[in-house]
Amino acid sequence: MAIRSVLKMGDPVLLQTAEPIERFDTAELHELIQDMQDTMAYLNGAGLAAPQIGLSLQLVIFGFDQNPRYPRAEEVPFTVLINPKLMPLSGDMEDDWEGCLSVPGMRGMVPRYSHLRYHGVDQYGKAIDRSVSGFHARVVQHECDHLQGILYPMRINDFRQFGFTDALFPGQGVVDD
Ligand code: NI
Repeated sequence: MAIRSVLKMGDPVLLQTAEPIERFDTAELHELIQDMQDTMAYLNGAGLAAPQIGLSLQLVIFGFDQNPRYPRAEEVPFTVLINPKLMPLSGDMEDDWEGCLSVPGMRGMVPRYSHLRYHGVDQYGKAIDRSVSGFHARVVQHECDHLQGILYPMRINDFRQFGFTDALFPGQGVVDD
């Protein structure tokens, strides 16, 4: 078990385009994923992308049953997604609040595609191909943006809906660091 430190917005690694992973089911990859899982669990994250711990690789993890950072979000199955490709299934977008472990203590209102197909592989090189909507679709778009050097504040349309979690949601039980 190893908890890695998460880079914060301003670190240039978070602005890089991540490299594809070419070798699967290696001890190195399994160890990296375990560290990411430990780090995400420790920080109550809904997801984590490898660049957030300083590795510019096309690897994200996400998923939870219940998440204190997003108490109203429906559950998302735990997923390891490598070399992902995203395809919106319609032009429909929806707005909702997002946070990011690299932007601690803050939330912003971010438009995302409502319906989305994504594919890629898992840590064994096995294909993943899913069509999703709602919070699942939102989390995938957020995490995969990290692989293109995009942080959620870059997606905000109305900066009046961007601020500190405790000021935006006083006494509403939204946990943030
Ligand atoms: Ni993030």
